[in-house]
Amino acid sequence: MTIALKRRSFTEDDITAEVLRRFEGTPDSRLREIMSSLVRHLHGFVKDVSLTEAEWFSAIEFLTATGQQCDDARQEFILLSDTLGVSMVVDLINHRKPEGATESTVFGPFHRDGAPEMRPGGNIAPHDERGTPMLISGRVLDLSGGPIAGARLDVWQADSSGRYDSQYADREELHMRGLFRADDDGRYLVRTVRPVHYAIPNDGPVGQMLRATNRHPWRPAHVHFVVSADGYEPVTTHLFDDEDPYLESDTVFAVKDSLICHFIRHDAHDDASDAFAIEPPFYTVNFDFALKPRARTSGI
Ligand code: BEZ
Ligand code: FE
Repeated sequence: MTIALKRRSFTEDDITAEVLRRFEGTPDSRLREIMSSLVRHLHGFVKDVSLTEAEWFSAIEFLTATGQQCDDARQEFILLSDTLGVSMVVDLINHRKPEGATESTVFGPFHRDGAPEMRPGGNIAPHDERGTPMLISGRVLDLSGGPIAGARLDVWQADSSGRYDSQYADREELHMRGLFRADDDGRYLVRTVRPVHYAIPNDGPVGQMLRATNRHPWRPAHVHFVVSADGYEPVTTHLFDDEDPYLESDTVFAVKDSLICHFIRHDAHDDASDAFAIEPPFYTVNFDFALKPRARTSGI
């Protein structure tokens, strides 16, 4: 008499198929697709590098430390995603834009809700005395060049010491942030200080990873914007300084050529100092945002 034996052990060649089989009953088809692909890639990765047990354990310790570093003021997992280029791959595949629309880039971990609403020309850097004043002006337009009246601009940046407000342990107050509205002609005007390049937080696991791989932690000088309007796709983006030495090696891979601007220095009184009622030295930069119409969703 022969006994039909059920197989209970797996080999390195057939375990992946069995793990995939266990996910086949996932009711949500998208979750099933994601879990299956994740398992295939993770198993493939472990085999590709012949991962040792010690290496696997250090990876577990690294991810544990990454989670332990997260709190209300710090998001080490976003930093990890950013420095591995994952955030930008997600951006690139999700925001394929038509010609002329403003390109997006990373959101980053430093946005905060609750920024004050500001009048045109309002100063988001009132306590930054070391920075050189800068005026950012331009229009918010649709793809045919028409103004988007009332468009919202959520603006934030690091101060002239290269730190965001949330990075000061002793300060609760929001600083270097503001919410602006475009006027009927689509025009906006933001007063700030010229941004500087800064190092992303590197005293945690992400910093360890950057040092172990001989990478620097610097981001080129930029100002963050989320520009939105009813009926249009919002764009999360930055304006970069064309003189910055880190444009080619941004540690989070977030530079796009179309977002690089020239910051014009004004050392003497001129038309701009009169128009903006500002004392030199200061900088000006002009940038028009162009929003893509929101895709229609069927009401069925
Ligand atoms: C930022 O620009 O604020 C940022 C983006 C990614 C990682 C760290 C900082
Ligand atoms: Fe930033």
